[in-house]
Amino acid sequence: MTEKQRPLRAVILAAGQGKRMKSSTPKVLHDVLGLTILSRVINAVSALGTEHLHIVVGHEAEQIKDFIAKHHSDLNITTHLQQPQLGTGHALMQVAPDLKSFKGDLIVTVGDAPLLTADTLKPLLDTHRQDDAVVTILSTIVPDSKNYGRVLRDAKQNVVGIVEDKDANDEQRKVKEINAAIYCFKWPEIEAGLAGLKNENKQGEYYLPDLAEWAVGKGFKLSASVAEDHREVAGINSRLELSEAIRHLRDLTIEKLALESGVTVVDPQSTWIAPEATIGQETVVLPGTHIMGNVKIGGNCTIGPNAVIRGNVVIGANSSVVLSMVVNSTFGEGCKIGPFSHVREGNSVGNEVKVGNFVEIKKCTIGNNTNISHLSYIGDTTLGSKSNIGAGTITANYDHLKKLKHNTVIGDGVATGSNSVIVAPVTIGDRAVIAAGSVVTKDVPGSSLAVSRARQTNIDGWSDR
Ligand code: UD1
Ligand code: CA
Repeated sequence: MTEKQRPLRAVILAAGQGKRMKSSTPKVLHDVLGLTILSRVINAVSALGTEHLHIVVGHEAEQIKDFIAKHHSDLNITTHLQQPQLGTGHALMQVAPDLKSFKGDLIVTVGDAPLLTADTLKPLLDTHRQDDAVVTILSTIVPDSKNYGRVLRDAKQNVVGIVEDKDANDEQRKVKEINAAIYCFKWPEIEAGLAGLKNENKQGEYYLPDLAEWAVGKGFKLSASVAEDHREVAGINSRLELSEAIRHLRDLTIEKLALESGVTVVDPQSTWIAPEATIGQETVVLPGTHIMGNVKIGGNCTIGPNAVIRGNVVIGANSSVVLSMVVNSTFGEGCKIGPFSHVREGNSVGNEVKVGNFVEIKKCTIGNNTNISHLSYIGDTTLGSKSNIGAGTITANYDHLKKLKHNTVIGDGVATGSNSVIVAPVTIGDRAVIAAGSVVTKDVPGSSLAVSRARQTNIDGWSDR
């Protein structure tokens, strides 16, 4: 077997309390541009091709376990309870019994580093494998190394150990190279070192970084990979650091969209785009826009001002979304959404469709060239092509007694008059016309006119009497 094929697992340490967050939500479940910190870390490590993830939980363990079960059931994940929390070394000790039959590389990372990506972890893993190291640490240079573990190097610049802030002397405290608390270990080679960790330090904790010095003492290869940008590996400890991390991820995302994808973001400070989003060339994103989730926007679009686009959304090329909200829906090309539209979940929309002002749509399938231009609610509806939904048309889809939603089917080339109410379940055939103000409760055959309203009577001279 070549070194590259050694099996890879990862451990995420997430048992700590995160006291400084002052939050009832566990630190790792706070949101960073549409995904929790934990999900971002899980995605980063699993993108390396890990066969199994081990997550150490302690504080708010149940909440974190529920979250993992709900959002990451596609991955092989085992959670390990660390109770009480006696330090990062002690956290890894909780995983050791489950690694009895494992022989390979083990990435160990903190759970609170929201900007961690596979791009940052890859050089750590590569260094570890190229050097055939037993312990490889990820370090970085920070402007202010206060509170961090400092990386100690000898005269030849070889790493010889890590000293925690509280245990460091004045000389060591001056060091700006810090331990990111992200490592790659060779298992089972480090097992004995882990089991032998001592808690004889200022905090009375079992320190995982002590494995660096242990490796040197044993004559094992200790390597280091230096992350270029310290913000990519920074753990967050307070809400202030959380918002800094969010802003930094936003900046990186917008920079990439501008430089690599040819997207103009007019006002980066007021625009929030998740790194998962892809946006096509020549698209302009206007101020006040939020794009979160697996959003795919084509080229030549105008998005914003003040567009909120969330979840699994596709918007085809040459479309616009102005002053509107779009959630979990797919649009073809050349669509016009807004101003003031609310596109709720589950719509699948064709090309050249207009969803205009004060229009709400939900769970609709809509063909090409259909317009819903003003003041409508269309829900649970299959709507054909080239139809025109008149101003104020409502699909009454909810049976409040049975608490059931009913479906409406509207064919191609249909015109509904202003202020018509279509009481589901009902089917309206191709090219049918609904007279303005009608309440439609029965199916309408194709090509026919449905009128369901009182006939107008004019009373002569009524005002004069
Ligand atoms: C740790 C490192 C330090 C490094 C810094 C980088 C140690 C002893 N020190 O310090 O060298 O510079 O990270 O941010 O490792 N955790 C557990 N169980 C525990 C303790 C912690 O799971 O018993 C988890 C926490 O949830 C967190 C991570 O380990 O995700 C780091 O813990 P934290 O207390 O933040 O360590 P630092 O003091 O920041
Ligand atoms: Ca920390």
